[in-house]
Amino acid sequence: MRSIYLVGFMGSGKTSIATHLQSELKWTVQDTDQMIEDYYQMNIPSIFKEKGEETFREYETNILHQTNIKKTIVATGGGIIEKEVNREWLQTNGTVVFLQTSWEEIERRLVEDHSRPIWNNQSRDKQKLLEERLPKYFEVADYIIYTDSKSVEEIATEIISQINA
Ligand code: S3P
Repeated sequence: MRSIYLVGFMGSGKTSIATHLQSELKWTVQDTDQMIEDYYQMNIPSIFKEKGEETFREYETNILHQTNIKKTIVATGGGIIEKEVNREWLQTNGTVVFLQTSWEEIERRLVEDHSRPIWNNQSRDKQKLLEERLPKYFEVADYIIYTDSKSVEEIATEIISQINA
């Protein structure tokens, strides 16, 4: 079975849904942000601050290529779809699930968040970024799951039933 790659904007629930899917499917879980921090021995805010976003994106591509392509649930960073090479790789190697979440819901979920470098940008810029990224999420997605007002359990169940359909 191909690995499941969860894609979606910051705050779409990729990490918590991956953990829940793990207990349902008994597959391994990987998280590209965590893998970047482990591999490069730096946390993500420091990578953005000291090396810049472009270097972070290079690290992200390298790590994507290191993920397991079988029986693993991979939570990806929200910007993984920015690079065409990543979109192609995802489409070739994974079953890709886009967790679609509205701007209003994302804002609600991340209201207290100060840990994500891009989330510290102006609200208008972040909303524009979501709009710009939407077509790229759609492009890679094998399945699209709308997450607004659903629990993690409901979303995980929906993913499993769609993939098994
Ligand atoms: C980013 C999202 C983050 C992380 C980095 C950049 C983005 O991951 O990869 O801060 O560009 O949207 P999450 O989507 O898990 O927050």
